[in-house]
Amino acid sequence: MANQIIVNAKAEKSTINRMIYGHFAEHLGRCIYDGFYVGEDSRIPNVRGMRTDIIEALKKIKIPCLRWPGGCFADEYHWRDGIGPKESRPSMVNTHWGGVVENNHFGTHEFFDLCEMLDTEPYICGNVGSGTVQEMSEWIEYMTFDGQSPMADLRKKNGREKPWRLKYFGIGNENWGCGGRMRAEYYADEVTRYNLYARNYGDNKLYRIGAGPRGANYKWTEVMMRDASMFLDAIALHYYTRVGDKVIIEYLPDGNERYLRDNSKSRKSATDFDEDQWFGVMKAAAFTDELVSKHIAIMDQYDPEKKVALIVDEWGTWFDNEPGTNPGFLYQQNTLRDAVSAGISLNIFNNHADRIHMTNIAQTINVLQAMVLTEGEKMILTPTYHIYDMYKVHQDAKLLDFAVLSDDYECGTENLKQINASVSKDSLGNINATLVNLDPNQMAEVTCHIADFGMISKVNGTVLTSGAMNTMNTFEHPDQIQPEEFEDFVIEGNTIHIKMPSKSVVLLTVKR
Ligand code: AHR
Repeated sequence: MANQIIVNAKAEKSTINRMIYGHFAEHLGRCIYDGFYVGEDSRIPNVRGMRTDIIEALKKIKIPCLRWPGGCFADEYHWRDGIGPKESRPSMVNTHWGGVVENNHFGTHEFFDLCEMLDTEPYICGNVGSGTVQEMSEWIEYMTFDGQSPMADLRKKNGREKPWRLKYFGIGNENWGCGGRMRAEYYADEVTRYNLYARNYGDNKLYRIGAGPRGANYKWTEVMMRDASMFLDAIALHYYTRVGDKVIIEYLPDGNERYLRDNSKSRKSATDFDEDQWFGVMKAAAFTDELVSKHIAIMDQYDPEKKVALIVDEWGTWFDNEPGTNPGFLYQQNTLRDAVSAGISLNIFNNHADRIHMTNIAQTINVLQAMVLTEGEKMILTPTYHIYDMYKVHQDAKLLDFAVLSDDYECGTENLKQINASVSKDSLGNINATLVNLDPNQMAEVTCHIADFGMISKVNGTVLTSGAMNTMNTFEHPDQIQPEEFEDFVIEGNTIHIKMPSKSVVLLTVKR
């Protein structure tokens, strides 16, 4: 069988919310300190402490929103420690992440400053696990109240006269785990209570995000939809792409868990892996489709009009930390395998754009599946960064109706569909298709028919691929893998015959 993609150019579906291309930055390892923020006295070029090379790189991929300050850190963060003169801010111990001392030099004012530099929407996650309703409520007042009030006055005293605009606000993080080890029923009550005091001040309207499930914990979604969704704009799923054994696909009634595949004996290196471990990651990324579909099916029962969004505010690959680095810092390298798995996941998120309104890959710099890695003044762009650069064409575009017929990619006794895609129409009427061939050995011949579009006049192609599954950029060789022009296709009327290299992601921009 040959691979085929059939697109109906007139069948526009939902808008692909640009927030699907969002990011996450936690006070974890070297994401904030020694990542975004090097301090004003650093010899590394910076503006008010923020690295200029990083700002430039991230502006290029148009990051639409940034989630902060955690993660697990958020449920131990006390915002008052991060305001006022830096020299008088108290230090704390970052117990979750390496037990290092956090000096609070990057706090609320610095975060909004960073978002303004990046031209991105701030998304703040409040502390439910170890904070109080009053603390969260006063943080919102501090940030958004325009007028005279105790918190607004404190903000002005700290140098910010006008309130900030804040839309996205998370009421807790992983409250089934590091955010308080709560039962779903208990958290549903807590999120309702905290939410009540998370006020909208003036015309600043919060978009309220409740902590959602871990992976396949469908019961959590059910309880949240039943008991709390009427007060929320979204619930936030977390799902990490791992080699296999940590990917839970079912919570069994006897308290045990069922995994996507058994990789318990294999290493989980980010860079040193064989085809079986490549397959494990592809399978875990492809499982995202089943996972979100099942959560969405539950949401549909309670909310058929799709008023409450599913957001995925933590996702991405999670491997062993790089040898020689602090295990609590979650620093991992990033290869073609990460890029291909990101391509798969983003295609899936686009294709569920009617319910998924935001996602935030973890985490932007030096942590997990990062866009950027730094070493002193050196900075490299990861293969995953290049996927975000290629896929930015989908931001706020119209998802088109399409079907994919795919050959199988076989590995041992298992198989996956060899190709997957998402297709959208931009504001100029051009069609952008992002195609993934996840087979590391076989190229894919793909025939793409575009109905109701007329004669195709021009197609621009870009490809990200490499000869080896684990090609990466390093500080010594920063440009080993980057997007290249792609011309291995032939246009015939309204059909494009494409020859995709093995293990590749291709962007085609189709013009009339
Ligand atoms: O992204 C790293 C951690 O993973 C986050 O702090 C937590 O929310 C999740 O378990």
